[in-house]
Amino acid sequence: MERTLAIIKPDAVAARSTGSILQRAEAAGFSIVAMRLVWLSKTDAEGFYAVHRERPFFSDLTTFMSSGPSVVLALAAPDAIKRWRALMGATDPAQAEEGCLRREFGRSIENNATHGSDGSETAAFELNYFFRGLELG
Ligand code: CMP
Repeated sequence: MERTLAIIKPDAVAARSTGSILQRAEAAGFSIVAMRLVWLSKTDAEGFYAVHRERPFFSDLTTFMSSGPSVVLALAAPDAIKRWRALMGATDPAQAEEGCLRREFGRSIENNATHGSDGSETAAFELNYFFRGLELG
């Protein structure tokens, strides 16, 4: 079993797509290990996305991520990191394949509905950013 950090972003929560996305995650074989609704501050979002600090989209990204509540999740499955990224599809919903979450629920590269850790080190940092050890069981 592997764990990944997933986020249902503010655009998808505002669109009331949380339930549909959770259903898709469970149907694809992911177990929900921990879950919380959080309204990130700008500083929280900057800390979470610190690796992107030098990118031109950093300010817009962190403003968007602090624009409303998100649902943060620890998901478990064999090969969870790769499989959750495959289920989300490409970062840009327009490039994501039919059947992928970002294609279905995302509207733009910024409003792309979901996030997932991109590797095991990132997953460890991101899971720890939102959840205490006890909550992860
Ligand atoms: P996410 O997987 O959450 O990781 C970083 C986010 O930056 C990404 O999804 C996008 O929503 C956002 N982003 C905004 N603009 C860009 C861009 N030009 N290239 C890549 N990511 C971008």
